Amino acid sequence: MTVHVPHNLPVEPNPFVGRARDLSELGSLVRDERVITLSGVGGIGKSRLSLRVAAQASARFADGVWLVEPARVGDPALMPSVPAAGPRQGGLTTREREIAALLTRGLSNRAIGVELVISPATVARHVANIMDKLGFDTRSQIAVWAAEHGRETGRS
Ligand SMILES: Nc1ncnc2c1ncn2[C@@H]1O[C@H](COP(=O)(O)OP(=O)(O)OP(=O)(O)O)[C@@H](O)[C@H]1O
Ligand SMILES: [Mg+2]
Repeated sequence: MTVHVPHNLPVEPNPFVGRARDLSELGSLVRDERVITLSGVGGIGKSRLSLRVAAQASARFADGVWLVEPARVGDPALMPSVPAAGPRQGGLTTREREIAALLTRGLSNRAIGVELVISPATVARHVANIMDKLGFDTRSQIAVWAAEHGRETGRS
């Protein structure tokens, strides 16, 4: 299934089977509800179904659909900012993404400057722009965001 809006949904590993009724029911729910919980025993297909629903619903979300894996977030205080920043990642320049990726290593502006051969003041300016674009107040919020968007920032 092809998704034509910004997204980070993984490619389906094999053909999707069945679930027609669940897909149509969830398709209507995502129109009206902000939070939907799928529960069921391990391996029954909750994640696969969710991704399929997100892909099918994508036509209705011009800003895109975003998979957020909260398992990587260790600090509960940072939880709200991670999904909030997801769809806006397209707004960062290549340099800003590079710097966001380096922030995941906890580097100072000076250390980042050394790595990228630019001045610490320039790094500080980029960091301020990243915070502005993503609506963040701290470097650690950027770091969590960058870890969550590793593929887009060019780091694995
Ligand atoms: N409708 C489907 N068609 C094809 N494969 C499916 C379908 N649903 C699930 N699978 C496959 O079954 C496996 C388990 O599915 P999935 O990871 O979605 O389960 P889950 O309920 O999210 O499990 P967990 O509780 O461990 O998170 C995966 O390999 C997935 O690709
Ligand atoms: Mg799952």
